[in-house]
Amino acid sequence: MTRDPRYDVLFEPVQIGPVTAKNRFYQVPHCTGLGWLRPRMVAALRGMKAEGGWGVVCTEYCSIHPASDDLPHPYASLWDDGDVRAHTLMTEQVHEHGALAGAELWVGGARTANLFTREVAMEVDHMPNAVNFPYQARRMDRSDIRELRRWHRNAALRARQAGFDIVYVYATHHYLLAHFLDARTNTRTDEYGGSLENRVRLVRELIEETKDAVGDRCAVAVRFSADEQGSDETPVIGEHRDMIEMLAELPDLWDINIQDYSREMGASRFIREGSLEAYMSYVKSITSKPVVTVGRFTSPDTMVSQVNRGIVDFIGAARPSIADPFLPNKIEQGRIDDIRECIGCNICYTGDSTGTPIRCTQNPTMSEEWRLGWHPEKIAAKGSDSTVLVVGAGPAGLEAARALGHRGYDVMLAEAETTLGGRVTLESELPGLGEWARVRNYRVQQIQSMPNVEIYPANHLGAEDVLAMEADHVVLATGASWLANGRGIHNPSALEQFGPLESIFTPDDILQGRLPAGPTLIYDDDHYYMANVIAELLRQRDIPVALVTPGNILSSWGGKAGEQSRIQRRMLELGVEIITDRGLVGFDGREARLECTYTGAIQTRATEAVVTVTMREPNDALYHDIDSMLAAHDGPRPQSITRIGDCLAPSIIAAAVYAGHRYARELDTDVNHDNRMKYDRVFFDEPITGGT
Ligand SMILES: Cc1cc2nc3c(=O)[nH]c(=O)nc-3n(C[C@H](O)[C@H](O)[C@H](O)COP(=O)(O)O)c2cc1C
Ligand code: SF4
Repeated sequence: MTRDPRYDVLFEPVQIGPVTAKNRFYQVPHCTGLGWLRPRMVAALRGMKAEGGWGVVCTEYCSIHPASDDLPHPYASLWDDGDVRAHTLMTEQVHEHGALAGAELWVGGARTANLFTREVAMEVDHMPNAVNFPYQARRMDRSDIRELRRWHRNAALRARQAGFDIVYVYATHHYLLAHFLDARTNTRTDEYGGSLENRVRLVRELIEETKDAVGDRCAVAVRFSADEQGSDETPVIGEHRDMIEMLAELPDLWDINIQDYSREMGASRFIREGSLEAYMSYVKSITSKPVVTVGRFTSPDTMVSQVNRGIVDFIGAARPSIADPFLPNKIEQGRIDDIRECIGCNICYTGDSTGTPIRCTQNPTMSEEWRLGWHPEKIAAKGSDSTVLVVGAGPAGLEAARALGHRGYDVMLAEAETTLGGRVTLESELPGLGEWARVRNYRVQQIQSMPNVEIYPANHLGAEDVLAMEADHVVLATGASWLANGRGIHNPSALEQFGPLESIFTPDDILQGRLPAGPTLIYDDDHYYMANVIAELLRQRDIPVALVTPGNILSSWGGKAGEQSRIQRRMLELGVEIITDRGLVGFDGREARLECTYTGAIQTRATEAVVTVTMREPNDALYHDIDSMLAAHDGPRPQSITRIGDCLAPSIIAAAVYAGHRYARELDTDVNHDNRMKYDRVFFDEPITGGT
């Protein structure tokens, strides 16, 4: 297939100072939860983006000095020669595919507590730690600023030594440089505070000094916010236009985003593709330098439109490049239907929040490029002529069938329902979750082009049916069901006084269209999206809702996905009553009994219905039925019967997709179950001697 000429513009080379990007696809800086800790994994991950066609591939935030340390989040660093060696692994792999490598030099300020290095964080002024650690950052004096400039210059030199082509001055996202710019935080009275010119001074100096240090060979990019403070639809540009105007021609590239991270990296439940456009309207009119911005771009038509209308020069992407590292190549090759579109669930960000390797709902190979050797587009040919029966076409079953089909196995995919997708299909009908159907759509679309995969919808198989199909391998991906008895984290066993049944609802009931009619208490001991999405659905039907959780904050895991504030706001706007720190310990059809998680004090609350969102149990009856039947079975037996995904242990959709993929990868291979994956760790500069 060949490229649609409409997309030609996306493949034009663009000059950035002394370097030229081969096309307009720009992977903006994004964390991986790997950083300095796992150099080989991160290098292979970035190299994969380059192989997939991204013209520019950047690091994550990259500390210039131990005074900017974000542990337990494994950021990147450029502190010494060891770091240079580690980054060289990345730049070599990026260059191998003709892409440019960018390093985002970073100073954390009050958003870092330096828990690893125990350096005192420095800021524009004395300031409490912004992520609620009981530390303060101290005010920088002139000599500190001089030191900072020296560290930044040295880090830029190391970046060049490591082979980077683009070096960033990172002046946004509420880190140190953004605080210098902001009149609310910068109350200094010296030459770095007061007037606009003074507040911009440090950023200007860093741009000039970075250019002076490495500008002969590297482009200097600035990551900057287009607005001063945003409300969703009405950006407040404020002084930021003036600032960009003042610096307009100084850097070689402007990488523009906005103040509100929950919009910039917005979950699809709240924010649509291309949502920064209104903020970007003026940027290109005040600089001749190339401009990049983001917007969860997955549609080539939207990308072309942004370029043709003069909004951007580069299509910036973090999540679309995670969900599909080969997105540019697929557009180039005219394989638009093969694009694995980001669903905007922000599971990728939970790796950042928890300091663990990045994972992706759509792309199960993310972070596994080096340690498992997984390639997002390639997979080993089948290891035998075995046939495989996959029971259940939810996210685990679909991915197993897709990847097995890709390997060349003959696959039978049986689904009890008439529609495919399982929980993904059902959940994508909930308010705001429509894009989640892309998990199903991509896989069904791929499977449909595979003659070796047969789909049997509306086939509810029993144990006898499964054995009668005489498949060599049976994979059970039959999902899970929510409990209706209140059992969960707060209540380790089922509640005794809990009924009547007709007043109790589970998410499965809601997904099947069985909804309460009157005032409802939703009990959230799941701490993610399900309870609050159901609250939204019920409020759309004018049902009064109280959302009760034993957590001390609503949707704590939503916080790790960067969407807690949006969830809370949505609940408040919808008039949902939020009650935290209370466990549900009883219900009699008229009153719920709530227990304070701290004192154990009981309060009652009138409600007609309860929706319990606590935990699920695997739908594994078929597995056990097959197991029992096999004891007396004298016909052909499957070589293996394997449960995957929610049918084994209910979890997030990303885990189900991963489980399906893993099953397919490992079939007919020798897996060392004692140590399945290569173990990445940092380099040692010095030879290790015994005991030291
Ligand atoms: C997992 C993840 C980690 C991120 N880490 C960084 C980072 O280290 N530095 C940075 O400037 N932006 C970071 N971002 C923000 C992205 O650069 C980008 O602005 C945002 O995700 C919106 O772009 P997108 O819609 O293409 O994902 C991160 C985003 C994600 C999803
Ligand atoms: S985890 Fe979700 S939001 Fe992140 S890249 Fe993958 S699909 Fe997109």
